[in-house]
Amino acid sequence: LKLKSHFIALQFVIIYGIMLEYEKSGELKTKSIDLLNLSSSTDVSALVEEIQKAEPLITASQSDQVKLLIQRLQDKLRQHSNHKFYLFKVLRAHILPLTNVALNKSGSCFITGSYDRTCKVWDTASGEELHTLEGHRNVVYAIAFNNPYGDKIATGSFDKTCKLWSVETGKCYHTFRGHTAEIVCLSFNPQSTLVATGSMDTTAKLWDIQNGEEVFTLRGHSAEIISLSFNTSGNRIITGSFDHTVAVWEADTGRKVHTLIGHCAEISSALFNWDCSLILTGSMDKTCMLWDATNGKCVATLTGHDDEILDSCFDYTGKLIATASADGRSPVHPFNWLDKHV
Ligand SMILES: *[C@@H]1O[C@H](CO)[C@@H](O)[C@H](O)[C@H]1NC(C)=O
Ligand SMILES: *[C@@H]1O[C@H](CO)[C@@H](O)[C@H](O)[C@H]1NC(C)=O
Ligand SMILES: *[C@@H]1O[C@H](CO)[C@@H](O)[C@H](O)[C@H]1NC(C)=O
Repeated sequence: LKLKSHFIALQFVIIYGIMLEYEKSGELKTKSIDLLNLSSSTDVSALVEEIQKAEPLITASQSDQVKLLIQRLQDKLRQHSNHKFYLFKVLRAHILPLTNVALNKSGSCFITGSYDRTCKVWDTASGEELHTLEGHRNVVYAIAFNNPYGDKIATGSFDKTCKLWSVETGKCYHTFRGHTAEIVCLSFNPQSTLVATGSMDTTAKLWDIQNGEEVFTLRGHSAEIISLSFNTSGNRIITGSFDHTVAVWEADTGRKVHTLIGHCAEISSALFNWDCSLILTGSMDKTCMLWDATNGKCVATLTGHDDEILDSCFDYTGKLIATASADGRSPVHPFNWLDKHV
């Protein structure tokens, strides 16, 4: 949602905050206000008063605008609380099984990777196939949009290469060569200047998407890398490995900052929470662990599953963790991120 006044534009970025855009000495600046505690029963007038007290950028004349935005946000929350999911469409996508699916930020388009060595681009509403990205010589296993921009796609393949494509035309910009085994995970950095790839060759590589060249090789794991992600400012990258550890790297130097040691089997997932203060790791050892992202210390171990953890994630507020396990049960763990207490 976007409302413009003569001076400040207010915009919701995610459902739990407001973004202020303002001009100061000719420069456009932004500032965000978190509304993590907002619920459909929050007293809006009291909340706006509180925000105004803490935020001198919002003048009395703008408080009505803010109130309106928060009320609309509450309406959204109400809709979400009784949201029902239903089957929208079934597409016959590829002649061989799919490996992965990814949506662009607005959800109006999505991509599928397949054992048929292609990645296809689809229009979500109509189900129309927009492009087939052909060129890999083996399974297309890892795929991603450069969200939030959504104009590029990266595909990682068992053919050991990663390719960068234009969403609009389906043209291949670059083929990144250098890994000596299958690529199984990848990610754009948030600025969309780099692609990181993780491989069965035990390394991760960073690639420059402008010139197509390798920037760094992240060496240090002693087994396959199967998961990687950037923090939201793009200066840290974490890699999860079958060597039972997760490594934290400086993205602008390739230097290893921490090794998260504690799991006693292969890592299956590794990711940051919303503000990148915590790292969540899932493992074949049937547990998840939470780590302090700045010092690399373990702050909690989540137990309860009877079999390997296959995937894990935070919700957007960072208050809940969901885990998927080979034991067939998916508990949701409530946890207070302020206290870091599970
Ligand atoms: C949010 O709620 C928690 C408890 O539910 C409370 O401890 C915390 O102070 C609240 N945060 C804000 C910003 O109001
Ligand atoms: C998602 O994809 C559609 C179709 O290519 C495009 O029109 C839209 O702008 C994209 N949205 C984002 C946020 O990338
Ligand atoms: C990314 O990590 C670095 C180092 O821990 C930290 O300084 C930075 O604030 C992090 N970014 C975000 C958005 O948390």
